[in-house]
Amino acid sequence: MDTIQVHDKKFKPYITAEQITAEVRKLADELSKDYAGRKPLFLAILNGSFIFAADIFRALSIPAEICFIKLVSYKGTKSTGEVITSIGLDAEVYDRDVVIIEDIIDTGRTLSQFLPQLEHQQPRSLKICALLHKKECTVYPIPIDYLGFTIPDRFVVGYGLDYDGYGRNINGIYQLEAD
Ligand code: IMP
Ligand code: MG
Repeated sequence: MDTIQVHDKKFKPYITAEQITAEVRKLADELSKDYAGRKPLFLAILNGSFIFAADIFRALSIPAEICFIKLVSYKGTKSTGEVITSIGLDAEVYDRDVVIIEDIIDTGRTLSQFLPQLEHQQPRSLKICALLHKKECTVYPIPIDYLGFTIPDRFVVGYGLDYDGYGRNINGIYQLEAD
């Protein structure tokens, strides 16, 4: 693998497609075991998680549903600050075993705002599966039940993750080169 360029920045090889495939298989096996007989509902958060979600979902050996949602943040009109709502959540969450699929958890802010909304709908259980976690960036601690890789605080692209819209279709994950 060689260094690649996305927009104005250079990225170096970091996690190979083979390493990702192996990790995805491990996570899917674990999920298949834990959710046997439960018919879980996977909620994949767009845009970044679309490739990870597709791969992990195909690797499951149990019956399961998947729904793709988009989290949109906007400023409240008063002093409420930022509000997060989901678009596309057309599945009934009540009494379901729900697994959120995220590409990367950075500060944890997005999920920390979305989780209470989901819990309000009273799922039977609610777990989180993330491919990447920038652990040292944690501001809002999120319990990650199924995690692929813990990575340092350096921007990455590829395998669904973008830099300003581009880089999602790159095979494997690349890390921003130091200046
Ligand atoms: P959080 O709310 O701070 O946890 O932010 C999570 C979101 O930030 C992810 O879903 C990504 O969209 C984005 N993000 C964080 N770090 C990266 C990165 O290194 N590359 C691409 N997107 C990132
Ligand atoms: Mg994302």
